Amino acid sequence: MEINNLKERFIEIYGEKSEFNFLSPGRINLIGEHIDYNGGLVFPCALDFGTYALVKIRDDNKLNFASTNFDLKTSSDVGNLLYKEEDDWANYPKGVIKIMLNKGYKVKGMDILISGDIPNGAGLSSSASLEVLIGVIVNNLFNEGKIDRVELVKIAQQAENEFVGVNCGVMDQFAVGMGKKDKAILLDCNSLSYKYADVKLLDYAIVIINTNKRRSLNESKYNERRSECEEALKIIQREKKVENLCKLTPAEFDKLEYLLKDEKVKNRAKHAVYENDRVISAFDSLNKGELEEFGRLLIESHDSLKNLYEVTGKELDALVEEALKVEGCIGARMTGAGFGGCAIALVKNDKIGGFAEQVKKSYTDRIGYEPSFYSSGIGEGTHEIFE
Ligand code: GLA
Repeated sequence: MEINNLKERFIEIYGEKSEFNFLSPGRINLIGEHIDYNGGLVFPCALDFGTYALVKIRDDNKLNFASTNFDLKTSSDVGNLLYKEEDDWANYPKGVIKIMLNKGYKVKGMDILISGDIPNGAGLSSSASLEVLIGVIVNNLFNEGKIDRVELVKIAQQAENEFVGVNCGVMDQFAVGMGKKDKAILLDCNSLSYKYADVKLLDYAIVIINTNKRRSLNESKYNERRSECEEALKIIQREKKVENLCKLTPAEFDKLEYLLKDEKVKNRAKHAVYENDRVISAFDSLNKGELEEFGRLLIESHDSLKNLYEVTGKELDALVEEALKVEGCIGARMTGAGFGGCAIALVKNDKIGGFAEQVKKSYTDRIGYEPSFYSSGIGEGTHEIFE
């Protein structure tokens, strides 16, 4: 929604003008899936669309939340922030604010209007976008912008883990909060050290494709994968001192995999170790402009997520298979948690029109409904918009 329309909506809802505007992006992950919680390397970037917030500071301690996306208006007191099922998306901002208060940061009452362009539950991090957005608002408006950005990222993740109850890793909040225009972030999720990388796609572009699979409850499957990896690590640690799965090289893992008697647990660990190795290769090939190799690694990543980690599902597999049949597409994979959501494809610029048409047709023939396509540049992390 246009910011001027949003300002009008704000007045309609709250009866007064808003004072501040903020934007927080969504993200895609280029490669390095389901390894942030295994201490691995991930390679995400922020999108150039995301979640807007218009804010007005109040004289009292009331936190009012409204959204243009959902018919829900909710109000809480700064001193009494509780998780409530019926508050739905507003639990994310409440969780962030509660954690900031517990850490001793200042928060006052606000009227907030949220407006998101990120499709919900599509694996583009609409929730991390909202969480970091609130952290940055509280930082800029009440704490003189002094809270370190990585600290805000961690607070956002903590809110999702402890307040909302999803045991996610740090990748999404980090990509959203630390994103830089035209750069991807190579992030070591164990140490949180990171570097920015130019995304030199030459005459290729990344196309985001949404399976449009209806949202289902994936949190339990996500948490299940995490505990399978923890189980694998515990067994390996009996034999070898290692901090996390991604500290192992593929060669080291191959020597130890006999320890993992349960085939499923072995496959999960194997994915983590090999995916981490692929991130290093993908970073190098992108850096050298070797896009065919980069594309090949994307395909390998998807295959591993399909066969070893089992988080793709028929919709994502159909998208990736159909994408790869089109001339000019040299790589494709699911992005995010999986089980539906989005895939990314690396497609030659002059073939994108035909690509979308063909994938739409063949996916619809196979799955029974249409996918959606998004084009996005690589955007900035969460920021205030000054006019
Ligand atoms: C979700 C989680 C992330 C990460 C990805 C999979 O997006 O929020 O922490 O684990 O899944 O890579």
